[in-house]
Amino acid sequence: MESKVILKEKNAYESANFLSKIFITSSFTLFRRGYKQGLTVEDLWQACESDLSGRLGDRLEEAWEKELETAKRKGGKPSFSKALISSFWVEYMLCGLLCGLLFIVVWFLSQGRVGMRVRIASCSLMYRKILKLDRNGMSKTEPGQVINLMSNDVNRFDMVTLFLNYIWVMPIVVPVVSYLVWQHVAWATLAALTVIFLQTVLVQAYLSNRQGVLRGKIAKRTDERVKVMSELVNGVQVIKMYAWEKPFEKLVAKLRKMEVNFIMRTSMIKGFSTALSVFTERFILYSAVVAYVVLGGNIRAEITFSLVQYFNLLQLACNIFFPMALAFLAETMVSIKRIEEFLMLEELTPVNAIEYINTKGSITNGSEKAIIEKERPKPTALVLSGVSASWLEDPIVPTLRDITITAMPGEFVGIAGLVGAGKSSLLQVILGELPPTQGKISLGGARISYASQEPWLFVATIRQNILFGLPYDKTRYKK
Ligand SMILES: Nc1ncnc2c1ncn2[C@@H]1O[C@H](COP(=O)(O)OP(=O)(O)OP(=O)(O)O)[C@@H](O)[C@H]1O
Ligand SMILES: [Mg+2]
Repeated sequence: MESKVILKEKNAYESANFLSKIFITSSFTLFRRGYKQGLTVEDLWQACESDLSGRLGDRLEEAWEKELETAKRKGGKPSFSKALISSFWVEYMLCGLLCGLLFIVVWFLSQGRVGMRVRIASCSLMYRKILKLDRNGMSKTEPGQVINLMSNDVNRFDMVTLFLNYIWVMPIVVPVVSYLVWQHVAWATLAALTVIFLQTVLVQAYLSNRQGVLRGKIAKRTDERVKVMSELVNGVQVIKMYAWEKPFEKLVAKLRKMEVNFIMRTSMIKGFSTALSVFTERFILYSAVVAYVVLGGNIRAEITFSLVQYFNLLQLACNIFFPMALAFLAETMVSIKRIEEFLMLEELTPVNAIEYINTKGSITNGSEKAIIEKERPKPTALVLSGVSASWLEDPIVPTLRDITITAMPGEFVGIAGLVGAGKSSLLQVILGELPPTQGKISLGGARISYASQEPWLFVATIRQNILFGLPYDKTRYKK
């Protein structure tokens, strides 16, 4: 579907040469324009071909399908993180290695780009999943939860990719710097390393873990709040009619308070962890110098100043970036688990498979298609015979019972019934949205168009709403 804003200019990054890509000089024209006159959405370039959600979604979907297949074969649970890793790890590691040799801007930009791609691919996969959810799946999820997944949870991918490479960079930096420090203060190095170990591994790892746990709790509260808010907006007429504003206001305030409470706790942990990293360098230096003097060393300015530089390096890798990597990783794992649960919801049987349904309600296709072709009365557009269906798993009375209809092509058929009698459900059965438990359905090769009882528009222009993703054909459109 085309977007509301049409971007005219192609992305200069795509036609840029290797050096320009590394130093992002191709973006300078855009920066200059932004500096001179400010940028609006229309000034932005089109997304790169390789960043389009369709393509990235295909890539991730393929990996996810493979995961599902493997899990089915081995009888385990499919893992969304494995699908993500197998789709993006090569790209990400290459960025890490390449950027390790270059400077920090490129490091952040290119890694951030992988994060962006992971986010786009995940959103695309979830979007495809929403279209495939069946009634069971639908009942287990709320619009609010999906909004939360597609806005908050996927944002973790952007952040985690910026720092994740430090998880392997840190173990390389520590021995190298320790060796250099050893040249100056010998055994006193151990004192510095002990402090680093205590702070990085014990304290920071504990804090990251807490952050992950809290992130899970925040996500749950946000789901709950967004769910209540969307129900409230939908039922606002009833609330107004019964003058229920005050109790509902209290309910929303309570939910917000609980959510803010957890956000506050995470912020405190983040604040403490940042504050800790500021002290680290001095604390390491202090312990190394004290240990050196206690061991009989003679402290001199050239030793102290060299140590300051080395510990500066250590502090960046161990106490700033590494804890951030751990914290974001913990939060991302929570998000991945939530996305995974969403992706595992029950799916609809593809509509084109519902051509013929036998008396037990099971769907046949493939090799049985030939028999179906023969059995299907050719001139009939739509035949339902003895169809029963229900929205509930184990209903006392099914929504539709033993329905038999024949509608010829071009025939005008009206269906009348009480409110909630099942008129819309009948159409859902024909569409394949509600699987029948009994009976036969044949569309007779007909193509069906459906206008829903409740009209809706998506956020775009009127023309885009009318075209619904199809290309613009002036004569047809004007008709
Ligand atoms: N998506 C759904 N999930 C669960 N139950 C549903 C769903 N849609 C309809 N039902 C239930 O199925 C029954 C039939 O509803 P349906 O909407 O088909 O009636 P209708 O004849 O179209 O009513 P109306 O005249 O109000 O349009 C109702 O009891 C309704 O609660
Ligand atoms: Mg209806």
